[in-house]
Amino acid sequence: MNVLLAENLQKEYELGQHLVKALDGISLSIAQGEFVGIMGPSGSGKSTLLHLLGGLDQPSAGEITLAGEQVALLSDYQATLVRRRNVGFVFQFFNLLPTLSAEENILLPLIIDGQKPQAHEDRLDMILKRVGLQERRHHRPDQLSGGEQQRVALARALITRPAIVLADEPTGNLDTQTGTAMMLLLRESAKDLNQAIIMVTHDPRAAAYADRVVFLRDGRVVQEITFSADADLSMRLRHVIITQEELEA
Ligand SMILES: Nc1ncnc2c1ncn2[C@@H]1O[C@H](COP(=O)(O)OP(=O)(O)OP(=O)(O)O)[C@@H](O)[C@H]1O
Ligand SMILES: [Mg+2]
Repeated sequence: MNVLLAENLQKEYELGQHLVKALDGISLSIAQGEFVGIMGPSGSGKSTLLHLLGGLDQPSAGEITLAGEQVALLSDYQATLVRRRNVGFVFQFFNLLPTLSAEENILLPLIIDGQKPQAHEDRLDMILKRVGLQERRHHRPDQLSGGEQQRVALARALITRPAIVLADEPTGNLDTQTGTAMMLLLRESAKDLNQAIIMVTHDPRAAAYADRVVFLRDGRVVQEITFSADADLSMRLRHVIITQEELEA
């Protein structure tokens, strides 16, 4: 079943007298539990696409169906609820609240949704352990490294078990080892909790953990690869790199 459907998405930004075409007719369908990588050169529309998919911004044309709801038909309030219940975000700039500890930042989506954080202690412990932040749970963002802040943002996106996780460069600031741990966490999260994960990345090694990689250029989908389940990481990595090279040629 699809949790997310985008049909012919267009996005134009007005910039003074100019219109900037950021997306030029993108259609995507994402299944439950599917881990999808989005790649493409800088300015190809990756972040714009994630923002639209998450309902943070409106397309100029086209339709988005999120967890069975056609977003454009909802009121702002309904759209906010659908988003809050179904989508977790991890952005390039992690938007952590500076006065809250790592743990409090992670629990925030539950609190905003009116849930008792105490009821989720086991899950919090599991996630803190998986992202390697048990020792840092009481630190504020300014007492954490960039990579640690990024891991807090990832933990915050996973705590509510959203059906869809949207991640923009989640491994951007991480060393290889931590980046690999993040990818394993995302992949297991997709499989164990049946979460769809849509991850923008420049890193072919990160993309190799996905089930499918979609390549954008100039606001369009120009290529797509689906890995067979038995392809090992090095085969996947080679496939991603070769595809990138072909697209650049
Ligand atoms: N608010 C805006 N106003 C005008 N133009 C914008 C705006 N946001 C993005 N753009 C333009 O839309 C295009 C797509 O931008 P987007 O941020 O989606 O690219 P990206 O693929 O995420 O790039 P990067 O890899 O550098 O993050 C770019 O040409 C960008 O300059
Ligand atoms: Mg971007």
